[in-house]
Amino acid sequence: MLIRFEGAGVAFRGHVALHPLNWELSEGERWVIVGESGAGKTTFARLAAGLQPPSSGKVFWWGEPLSPPVLRRHRVAVQYVHQDPYGALHPGKTVFQILADPVRYHRRLRGKALRQEAEALLRRVGLTPPQYFLDKYPHHLSGGGRQRLAIARALGVQPRVLLADEPVSMVDMSLRAAILALFKEVQASLGIATVLVLHDLGAARFFAEEEGKVLVLYRGYAVEVGRARALFTQPFHPYTALLLAASPRLPGTPRSAEARRYLVDTLARGENPGTGGCPFASLCPWVQARCREERPLLREVEEGHNVACHRAEEVTTDLRKVVGG
Ligand SMILES: Nc1ncnc2c1ncn2[C@@H]1O[C@H](COP(=O)(O)OP(=O)(O)O)[C@@H](O)[C@H]1O
Ligand SMILES: [Mg+2]
Repeated sequence: MLIRFEGAGVAFRGHVALHPLNWELSEGERWVIVGESGAGKTTFARLAAGLQPPSSGKVFWWGEPLSPPVLRRHRVAVQYVHQDPYGALHPGKTVFQILADPVRYHRRLRGKALRQEAEALLRRVGLTPPQYFLDKYPHHLSGGGRQRLAIARALGVQPRVLLADEPVSMVDMSLRAAILALFKEVQASLGIATVLVLHDLGAARFFAEEEGKVLVLYRGYAVEVGRARALFTQPFHPYTALLLAASPRLPGTPRSAEARRYLVDTLARGENPGTGGCPFASLCPWVQARCREERPLLREVEEGHNVACHRAEEVTTDLRKVVGG
């Protein structure tokens, strides 16, 4: 197990951004974290990257809790790619310097070997011919080019995990698929566990494909976790289904235009969840008395598919209609 959350959660001055959850990342896995703005996605990613300490519970790296010495190794092995590649790349450094500095420091390469490694990293992310890019500055590159450079820099320290927070939100629409495909390629061919935070479900489906795992966050709660194949076509949580139905980039039109209107209206209203029960109770079309009183915990409904809904089994047939499956 590379990363493990054991009841790990984050609160900022009394406001819970991420409710305590258990989560495990194994070697070479592909994960997507989805949810609307404010759901706790960035908090989740920063917690996993060791950039944010848990306020409750523990985060483990290779079975060890993140103490300062473990954290130093963790922060190299788990590379974080920021939403805004421009802000994350030093504007006064050349592409070569940006790539070479971490490689020199962590892998002790020098001279010709260092230059060759920088070139190999550029080739790996599709910035070719590498010689053309080495002496450029970040502002010479497009948004997509800068994100490729950020990925190359992350790969330079030979990480076990790549974590990226909405890596295509600042990239031109037309270039997004290529960047997502690069992440897929890195995960598949280098075997680096890759976790992407994506708010766009079309992008999430494209990246996760069939076998990738998906975590759905709603107001800081993990509400559904499972393989993309199952979760996107046969969701068990009403929120997941409604989120999918409202996603404009799904292939095919949702069967229930009504469900879709409902979602767009109600989620936009953003009512406050009650305190005791299910956080989705006030918006859920399938709500029952129990939902308002008792908080549902994540539980396994099918192998490898976990859902926090009291009525998961009862509603899943309805939900399949909502997502048009
Ligand atoms: N540093 C912080 N201080 C206070 N509140 C924060 C901080 N970071 C995030 N939050 C709050 O935590 C919640 C989750 O935020 P975030 O993880 O950024 O969500 P997302 O990335 O899904 O949009 C939001 O309500 C946000 O306002
Ligand atoms: Mg965010």
